[in-house]
Amino acid sequence: MVDFTRLEDINFAGKTAMVRVDFNVPVNDGGGISDDTRLRAAVPTIKALQDKGAKIILMSHFGRPKGKVEPTMSLGFLTAPLAELLGSPVAFADSCVGADAKAKAQDLTSGDVLLLENTRFHSEETDNDSGFAQALAALGDVFVHDAFSASHRAQASSEGIGRILPSCAGLSMARELDHLSQALEHPKSPVLAVVGGAKVSTKIDLLQNLVTKLDALAIGGGMANTFLAALGHDVGKSLCEHDLKPLALKIMDAAKKANCSVLLPVDVVVAKDFAAHAPHRVCGLDDVAPDEMILDAGNQTVEQLADAIDRAKTLIWNGPLGAFEMVPFDTATVEAAQYAGRRVKEAGLIAVAGGGDTVAALKHAGAADMFTFISTAGGAFLEWMEGKPLPGVEILKQT
Ligand code: 3PG
Repeated sequence: MVDFTRLEDINFAGKTAMVRVDFNVPVNDGGGISDDTRLRAAVPTIKALQDKGAKIILMSHFGRPKGKVEPTMSLGFLTAPLAELLGSPVAFADSCVGADAKAKAQDLTSGDVLLLENTRFHSEETDNDSGFAQALAALGDVFVHDAFSASHRAQASSEGIGRILPSCAGLSMARELDHLSQALEHPKSPVLAVVGGAKVSTKIDLLQNLVTKLDALAIGGGMANTFLAALGHDVGKSLCEHDLKPLALKIMDAAKKANCSVLLPVDVVVAKDFAAHAPHRVCGLDDVAPDEMILDAGNQTVEQLADAIDRAKTLIWNGPLGAFEMVPFDTATVEAAQYAGRRVKEAGLIAVAGGGDTVAALKHAGAADMFTFISTAGGAFLEWMEGKPLPGVEILKQT
């Protein structure tokens, strides 16, 4: 397990907890929340702090307002849904520092919750300015980092403040760290990773790190096309980063040296148009016509993946295996994700997933609830898979 200070290690009675949450929630066209997972993720820590008699101040960014007040990126609209989830009122300060925040912080009594306005309305937040971190720290007594999904950023409310106040991980952060450590740092072997998504260029570091740690790596989605092309297959007009073919070969070579087997598609679903329900066919790797593109993996590939999942005790999943937003090119993702989910129940497979499109793909597959753990993180999950130290986690180890 990762060694970090936990909520249980600190006496919060009468203290003010400065809790970093990630309320960077997805919104729909009308400006409402389209998925409240990140609000829900913060609830256990807030409730635990209320039970411990703490006063609670919540800090978060929302979007990338670049240091300016941007009304469409105000966090004010979240007080009502959060209060409903908590079953208690949530006050709001219209700036995260300054007179209003100070006065509202001072008015708090045990169990009260105050949400501060978007920390990124101040450029000092993203600059990790120490004076700004000091101003945030002055509002409370203890820093509780509960936003794993923002832990790859060294910013004032997520790292700088941890240099000033005694710090600990919130329950959601601790849950993430415990599960992720169980999956990659101290896993039950054999470990299999499924890495999909559109482009190799966004996952170079991740692939290079993973091949040194895994028993098997299954590559899918558009990024598999670059590997197939590197091996000499004609991928027609598929998405393919031809300039990265030498790198793909290098990754496969590194995998071989590290005894990590690389699984690539053995059959593919091709179509002439990038559109839902486009006429399509399944074919072998050397049968893709010049005017066709690969939009999904075929049946035999899913079977190959199911066999690899059978052999694995731990599975790490990132990215879809095909153009999963368009029926029927979601088939391989749906079938493989459901198969993995069933192995969790039937064979005790440890299956964790996260990053980018992954949660949407697994939800679409109806498999999200079947996995052992789904991370709330996008970019932070990828940086964790890359083996990079996460500043917001490192700060919790140093206290
Ligand atoms: C996320 O949504 O991944 C986090 O909130 C981080 O957001 P950022 O990439 O704008 O820092």
